[in-house]
Amino acid sequence: MMQSEQARRAYLRAMGIDVWIPRDQVDVEPGCAEAGSQTVSGDLGWEGLRNAVAACTRCRLHESRTQTVFGVGNPAADWMFIGEAPGAEEDRRGEPFVGRAGKLLDEMLLAIGEKRDSVFIANILKCRPPNNRDPRPDEAASCRPYLERQIELVQPKIILAVGRIAAQQLLQSDAPVGRLRGKVHQLDAIPLVVTYHPAYLLRSPSQKRKSWDDLCLARRVMAGAAE
Ligand code: URA
Repeated sequence: MMQSEQARRAYLRAMGIDVWIPRDQVDVEPGCAEAGSQTVSGDLGWEGLRNAVAACTRCRLHESRTQTVFGVGNPAADWMFIGEAPGAEEDRRGEPFVGRAGKLLDEMLLAIGEKRDSVFIANILKCRPPNNRDPRPDEAASCRPYLERQIELVQPKIILAVGRIAAQQLLQSDAPVGRLRGKVHQLDAIPLVVTYHPAYLLRSPSQKRKSWDDLCLARRVMAGAAE
């Protein structure tokens, strides 16, 4: 990317102005374009997909993971929750959202009358980034076909993007969560609502009210009352 274009985006961001970057211009680290372009066969069922994820070596994260974290829940769920990446506890247990943030996610699910096994929960990344750093663009690109296939198989009626990384990755935007929440987006014709990450809500409990509003918006979408 040209230096001046980088500066323009940084400036707009600093001003709080949304910067929309066309998919083909999103930065991919050198040498990673190939990994990002790998696909997953549209014929893969759940078992094949699970096996492909478990054996994945598409990015460097396979070197440091304890195990992959595929996703959990109802394979035909109406609600699909997508987070960022496994943390230490998830890496140990092989299940998404089982740490402190996961407990809060469980409470959020309860609040909308759902449970961990009635929805489907997945992450942008299936492997834990070391030291819980943010996913890198090449890692997200390498992992994306797995998530896309999961979405195809689940066929959810709504997707909840949980937190900044999930929202930005799914919507290919670099707008902050505060701007992406509060409206109904579309991901391949599936309504998508953005909400705060439970880990953020644990640090900023005053924002829980807003995340409740997001869940109410999602419920209205499910009831056919908001689009
Ligand atoms: N945070 C996430 O985004 N996903 C997990 O699975 C755990 C914590």
